[in-house]
Amino acid sequence: MPHRERYLFLCTNRRPDDHPKGSCAAKGSEELVKALKGALLARGIAGRVRACSSSCLDLCEIGAAVVQEPEHVAYGNVTLGDVNDIADAVAKGEVVERLVVHRGPPPAGRSGA
Ligand code: FES
Repeated sequence: MPHRERYLFLCTNRRPDDHPKGSCAAKGSEELVKALKGALLARGIAGRVRACSSSCLDLCEIGAAVVQEPEHVAYGNVTLGDVNDIADAVAKGEVVERLVVHRGPPPAGRSGA
């Protein structure tokens, strides 16, 4: 299987409902994975972009959390209503700025923007 151009990691970690950190699964992330995979398929980009379930991304308080690589950005408070915007942006190699909660350093060998 070829390496994809882009990856979307969606936290599907689940904690007990009374846990103080909360969890992305309790905020609907399992449905997000299915919806985003479907949105990538519908756009014909599933061979270039892969949506993957992930364990905890340490962004629990702002889940549902998604990390997009190689842009190295984290999205917070993602809902089903954001799926089409994420799929449209990643198809163009772009980022949904309104969802960005953290932005990491650029990958080695790339200049920051
Ligand atoms: S539970 Fe999703 S980021 Fe921690």
